[in-house]
Amino acid sequence: MNQKEALQKIKQFVHSHFSSEPSGHDFTHMERVARWSSDLAANEGADPFLCEVIGWLHDIGDRKLFKDPVHAKEEQNRLLKELGFKERVIADINEAIDTVSFHKGQVPDSITGKIVQDADRLDAVGAIGIARTFAFGGAKGQQIVSKNEMAPNSLQHFYDKLLKLAPLMNTESGRQEAERRHQFMLLFLEEFQRETEVQP
Ligand code: ADP
Ligand code: NI
Repeated sequence: MNQKEALQKIKQFVHSHFSSEPSGHDFTHMERVARWSSDLAANEGADPFLCEVIGWLHDIGDRKLFKDPVHAKEEQNRLLKELGFKERVIADINEAIDTVSFHKGQVPDSITGKIVQDADRLDAVGAIGIARTFAFGGAKGQQIVSKNEMAPNSLQHFYDKLLKLAPLMNTESGRQEAERRHQFMLLFLEEFQRETEVQP
């Protein structure tokens, strides 16, 4: 199999499913997760090609994003077969994808799954994480910040989830990158607080 050609075909397939989704799961999210999966794999001594493939495909068949998840997975597996991936490898890819999501709260067994989970989490933190948080909030009609702490608002999401992600990273290089992004978010929150403080 020509790896470059395979990645090109996978990229086209992903593009046909995610073009301009506005809440943070657009094509550029897949592109970033693919890139960081490959970079982390190189640092961790894992297979950068396989991790990049899983990075591209990690949200295919996600229940909240697909009307017909089973069909999307079938299409994906047909493509992988056409590209020359062995049945065993396709099963490993699907197993890694199934355990990547934060919601399922699982740590993938394989190093490839661990790497892609880290790459996916990295996209929720740092500068891009800040941008995605407010984009998601806007798409859901949520306020930037609310006086009523109980009302859902985008700022609250930093405390509910984003500031908890750094210690959950699976790999050393993922942890280092997450730590850098964590510090950047703390700086952002400090500045946000300073700019928005009003007298009671
Ligand atoms: P994933 O599928 O990667 O687990 P989610 O669908 O939970 O991601 O979130 C997509 C993006 O929107 C992420 O950047 C996440 O941090 C952000 N997000 C999720 N929930 C909220 C929320 N309640 N308020 C603001 N941003 C959110
Ligand atoms: Ni994702």
